[in-house]
Amino acid sequence: MDTLSHAAADRFVMLASRYLETTGKFNVALAGGGTPRSLYQLLASVEYRGRIDWSGVSFYFGDERSVPQEHADSNYRMARESLLDRIPITREQVFPFETRLDVRKAAAEYARLLQRNLPKADGLPKFDLVLLGMGDDGHTASLFPGTCILHDDRLAAAVYVEKLKTWRLSLTYPVINNADHIMFLISGESKAQVMQQLSQNTESHFPVSRIDARDELLWLLDEAAASTMETTR
Ligand code: 6PG
Repeated sequence: MDTLSHAAADRFVMLASRYLETTGKFNVALAGGGTPRSLYQLLASVEYRGRIDWSGVSFYFGDERSVPQEHADSNYRMARESLLDRIPITREQVFPFETRLDVRKAAAEYARLLQRNLPKADGLPKFDLVLLGMGDDGHTASLFPGTCILHDDRLAAAVYVEKLKTWRLSLTYPVINNADHIMFLISGESKAQVMQQLSQNTESHFPVSRIDARDELLWLLDEAAASTMETTR
């Protein structure tokens, strides 16, 4: 995980520096779950914190659980504790989903926020970077297999995830795939089977297989997640 997080942190710093130098802004959507935590902690560490002018960075979220922002399962809380509370930014630079609202209202409000705040590319809000994880079923953000959000052309949506018996809030393919850069952070043995199938290109039904980026789609895996992948000879 340490190598993975360092590789991701170096790439994050390089991209942030490039955008901050050229546009003065860096709009990033953070991933949730467990894997990104160590990346966020690294970015907030003495080793990395001083390499970015954080005043130009705006933080959004790829998805969120339908829980209060202080709940242990909140992606916002995880990012706040591991990164956002530990770097020199103001609350005005952070845009969590408003989970106090009804999930459908929260999703609609987030879509309006993206429309208001982000520059456009091909008529859609454009992130400079979207960080994503992947579940062992090939989901990413809250784009879960077999759910209606996979066909949703709004910018953000609420989705009921039967296997988890809960509602989620998530960005959708149109806005995720409109990002200049996407970086997957994937760790653990439980992801190896999906990665093997993706590398053999045998199973394209996984939600992650429909992710694309305008400029660069980067897959960062630890050894366990990559352990059974087909590699070109
Ligand atoms: C979430 C994430 C989700 C996550 C994957 C992988 O809210 O849980 O957005 O898509 O990235 O489930 O989670 P891990 O990185 O913890 O394995």
